[in-house]
Amino acid sequence: MTSVLFSPIRLADLELPNRIVVSPMCQYSADDGVASDWHMTHLGMLANSGAGMLVVEATHVERRGRITHGCLGLYSDACEEALERVVLHCRHIGTAKLAIQLAHAGRKASAQRPWEGAKPLSEAEDAWPTIGPSALPFGPGWHTPRAMTEDDMAHVSASFTDAAKRSVNVGFDAVELHFAHGYLLHSFISPLSNKRNDAYGGSFESRMQFPLGVVRSVRAVVPRRIPLGARITGTDWVDGGLTADDAVAMGKALKAAGVDYIDVSSANITPESRWPTDPGFNVPAAERVRHECGLPVRAVGMITNAKQAEAIVAEGRADMVALARAFLDDPHWAWHAAQTLDADVARPIQYARTAPKLWPGAALRG
Ligand SMILES: Cc1cc2nc3c(=O)[nH]c(=O)nc-3n(C[C@H](O)[C@H](O)[C@H](O)COP(=O)(O)O)c2cc1C
Repeated sequence: MTSVLFSPIRLADLELPNRIVVSPMCQYSADDGVASDWHMTHLGMLANSGAGMLVVEATHVERRGRITHGCLGLYSDACEEALERVVLHCRHIGTAKLAIQLAHAGRKASAQRPWEGAKPLSEAEDAWPTIGPSALPFGPGWHTPRAMTEDDMAHVSASFTDAAKRSVNVGFDAVELHFAHGYLLHSFISPLSNKRNDAYGGSFESRMQFPLGVVRSVRAVVPRRIPLGARITGTDWVDGGLTADDAVAMGKALKAAGVDYIDVSSANITPESRWPTDPGFNVPAAERVRHECGLPVRAVGMITNAKQAEAIVAEGRADMVALARAFLDDPHWAWHAAQTLDADVARPIQYARTAPKLWPGAALRG
């Protein structure tokens, strides 16, 4: 059997050795946006997971765009220098290509870390004012964001563009934009969070106007050889919210604005958003975006085992799969998937003796 999951894929001028991606995962372990030793350890480990690509967590383009006090940022020279050290480290010791997810938390900013409660910060916890498409809080008890003016939009767009330039300087192989999970760009697109009655609200096209402007500005500074991706929402999982039809429309608009690939995730636009937990729950939306938009698509969400991942790609439902929790649970997930699918995978020379061909124990592992 020849594995499709372990076959290469090209995104712009970047070739990935396989279709397995480590999904972006916030670590809440930065100091004023600056990566710490934890990032060296965490990302260094996952750079050796066998995945073709490792996406660095949501990295915020301005200070007030961070979800928590511990979120990663790329809005200062200190942020850039620290990330450059992490990237050099991962390249030196690891095998995965490196992408960065650029984000702005919008009305979901100024929150506690998950282990502190994930609630909005109080004044005593150094809360900061948030911004959004409309003066509507994420949910009861959340900070009411200030509805953004055109000057705010120009400022945020410039922050995304500066962070994209810094990402290229740092040497990332790919840049991704966060258009999902209720954060700023998603909140402009969803009718649940965007109640504007100017040129940036109302119809789908108007709600897309600001986010698409961000994409065009970012594309202008990310050379064509470097793939630009976007993580979108396949559905809001709330009545009256975005659906898979909107995901297809988003995919087409993003493609026209210069995006090279789409990741289809979902949920989290409001606290009422309840998403399924069955295996591959975002795959149906990903499949539609792939077939109806004609650009490479990555599926994410409850993809946990090698045969399931292989089937998603082999059946043409997605071009790549991203896994998050499965990689935290097993940082060598792709080594074990390669063993199951009888495929080759890169591993560091120091660990070469764990390859199934050299270690009879691999066949006995439970
Ligand atoms: C600890 C943790 C942090 C996460 N942080 C991010 C993030 O920074 N950006 C993002 O788009 N998704 C984030 N997610 C969502 C994951 O990327 C992924 O979409 C989700 O966990 C579903 O995939 P899974 O079933 O493979 O875990 C995070 C998930 C986890 C578990």
